[in-house]
Amino acid sequence: MRKLSVHHLLGIKALQEEDLQLIFETAQQFKEVINRPIKKVPSLRDVTIANMFFENSTRTKLSFELAEKRLSADVVNFSAAQSSVKKGETLVDTVNNILAMKVDLVVIRHPHPGAAQFLSERVSACIINAGDGTHEHPTQALLDAFSLEEKLGTLQGKKITIVGDIRHSRVALSNIFALQLMGAEVSLCGPPSLIPKYATTLGVTVETDLMTALKSSDAVNMLRVQHERMDVSYFPSTREYALQYGLTLDKLEVLNKELIILHPGPINRGVEITSEVADSEQAIILDQVENGVAIRMAVIYLLAAQYLPTQAQSA
Ligand code: CP
Repeated sequence: MRKLSVHHLLGIKALQEEDLQLIFETAQQFKEVINRPIKKVPSLRDVTIANMFFENSTRTKLSFELAEKRLSADVVNFSAAQSSVKKGETLVDTVNNILAMKVDLVVIRHPHPGAAQFLSERVSACIINAGDGTHEHPTQALLDAFSLEEKLGTLQGKKITIVGDIRHSRVALSNIFALQLMGAEVSLCGPPSLIPKYATTLGVTVETDLMTALKSSDAVNMLRVQHERMDVSYFPSTREYALQYGLTLDKLEVLNKELIILHPGPINRGVEITSEVADSEQAIILDQVENGVAIRMAVIYLLAAQYLPTQAQSA
């Protein structure tokens, strides 16, 4: 059996092109499974997974849970708001107590960059990063790249633009690493205040005018402005942001080209994208969500096969 080059999924930065190919081939098989009347396989029948969310989530949390259940794993869900973290328990103590209940694999979303890496160095379990602060969101980037490949055939030589609040985004960094591994050219677009100074060291181009960036793009990933991560205002007003960087039908008509539109969600309709564009044929936002379950099944299955070879059974 082919194997991933990693024992945890902490970020895309640690992966190789072959890892992405293996994840996508496995996800393609699981996508076929979840479109059957019986959407389950017995592959992880003896595996127990804890989903530990220290930050709000709709898509990622439900998608991981469905992926685990469709692999027949036992699943426990932990929500920080209702836990003893509120009484002062540390992250490592919390996770070690959960592992003592014979949990094999931990999916963690945490507001602090590096939390998944920190945990992987201190506890005996396979760790999957479901988003760590402004650092990485690897499964989001995998499902984005998989969805793009479905539409474009190959990403080799394609230009993908990521628009919006790059500074506070974990999706942007993981997307840059994943798309570059697949041979795409990545450009970033947004107000200068929301593009970090280190961006140009990542091998991307930076453009502050949306229409200039989109003219030469095959696809665009529209990011949400992450007000919850801002302690000061990074642009004069939401209205001005929407005028300059919001994707509207008018702008698409001027571009007059086949541009694939992605959004990781949650959407702020009327800010970074209008309802007409979000619900248009060009937008693949719900395809991304559908593919997220197959991608997470693939990641969990491949890591479990490596970390827990006696429990994981062939798909
Ligand atoms: N895309 C994404 O991470 O969405 P959630 O925050 O709802 O999980």
